[in-house]
Amino acid sequence: MVAVKRIVLGVSAGIASYKAALLLRLFKEAGHHVDVIPTEASLKFVGLATWEALSGNPVRTGVFEAVDTVNHVRLGQMADLVVVVPATADILARAAAGMANDLLTGTLLATGAPVVMAPAMHTEMWEHPATRANVATLRSRGITIIEPAVGRLTGKDSGAGRLPEPEEIFAAVAGYLADSSAARPGSPKASAASAELPLAGKIVAISAGGTREPLDPVRYLGNRSSGRQGIALAKAAMAAGARVRFIAAHMDQPAPEGVELSTASTARQLQVAVNQAARGADVLIMSAAVADFRPAEYVDSKIKKSDEHADPVITLVRNPDILALLVADRTHEGAASDLPPMIVGFAAETGDAENSVLDYGAAKLARKGCELLVVNEVGENLTFGTDENSITILSADGSAPVHATGSKDDAARAIIDAVASALAV
Ligand code: CTP
Repeated sequence: MVAVKRIVLGVSAGIASYKAALLLRLFKEAGHHVDVIPTEASLKFVGLATWEALSGNPVRTGVFEAVDTVNHVRLGQMADLVVVVPATADILARAAAGMANDLLTGTLLATGAPVVMAPAMHTEMWEHPATRANVATLRSRGITIIEPAVGRLTGKDSGAGRLPEPEEIFAAVAGYLADSSAARPGSPKASAASAELPLAGKIVAISAGGTREPLDPVRYLGNRSSGRQGIALAKAAMAAGARVRFIAAHMDQPAPEGVELSTASTARQLQVAVNQAARGADVLIMSAAVADFRPAEYVDSKIKKSDEHADPVITLVRNPDILALLVADRTHEGAASDLPPMIVGFAAETGDAENSVLDYGAAKLARKGCELLVVNEVGENLTFGTDENSITILSADGSAPVHATGSKDDAARAIIDAVASALAV
């Protein structure tokens, strides 16, 4: 049975506000109570009558209406979830500045409920430094900002800034509606929620699988990663209440249900996808096995034995270190960065006569600069493609290493527990 939630649906003035009407229907069909708070300007796009008819509740825009009910704080205080769809550059700016000059911004200040905003605007406005800074500020306060989709905008132009479809927004907030005690971090409801769902309201980006570096149209340099550890991590993160952005390189099974999926084949494609998914996430887990090198040259027709008398020699060049570059970007951007404060690396290591697997792991943790490093011993019959795993989680803050042995699900739960404890400090 679905627990009935009180949702505040804020609507700001964008052409995409008609999609908020469809989202409202989805909320109502799922049995929830919805109070719509449009901004005054948004009524030029969709009128009051539509919101009142679809929600079945009175709708107001200003703080001086229904003053007897202290509406400007009441709706926010009673809400289980506040969703702003579409969120214009203007509402992001006013919310980031903490303004309360209409009913919607007043509600955003008064609520202790989780807040999810789905921006929609032209690409130039989305990419403007002012909007980037406002988004980073709002995210740093625990507000979830859904990345706009890339596609056709209002006119003939297209780019990043399109409002995701109502079904996608509905799916993105479903976790808040299922969790009976979900709350914005720091609010009174949050402590109760955090015990059961330690990653409630958090966004976790996870890369998984192995990259392939093409030599010619039929051959590639690859690795033996199956993606199973990344899949197990995604499931464990979702079970802990997180929203998961899953970046899949090549895997031997499908990505799990319920993630926001993007795919990549080569290391350089993975870098683009990871950089995008990491923005605004609370955690990035780099479980993908990224090829350190790629062929210097891609031959665009199949290399033939008969082409040369001598055997071919493949020259390799270095791929970007995705994880280390993100850590460097985060340091460079400083406090305003919307890159994850928690970056988790993996180290697939073999020991040798001089150093143990953990010695190499500790050196790699220092070199990469991430917060946690999951070290596992690899070999032909260890880890890759199997269901069993033995890991050690090393922490940059010097806490004692955590060991876990068992299935990849067991390892994933240990990693997610370590992430949740590190975030809670
Ligand atoms: N990684 C990455 N980009 C690369 C290579 C690796 O982001 N080009 C990430 C992996 O996803 C993993 C971590 O870095 O989380 C460690 O990868 P690994 O290949 O074990 O380490 P390397 O830095 O490549 O070091 P070495 O090959 O010398 O062991």
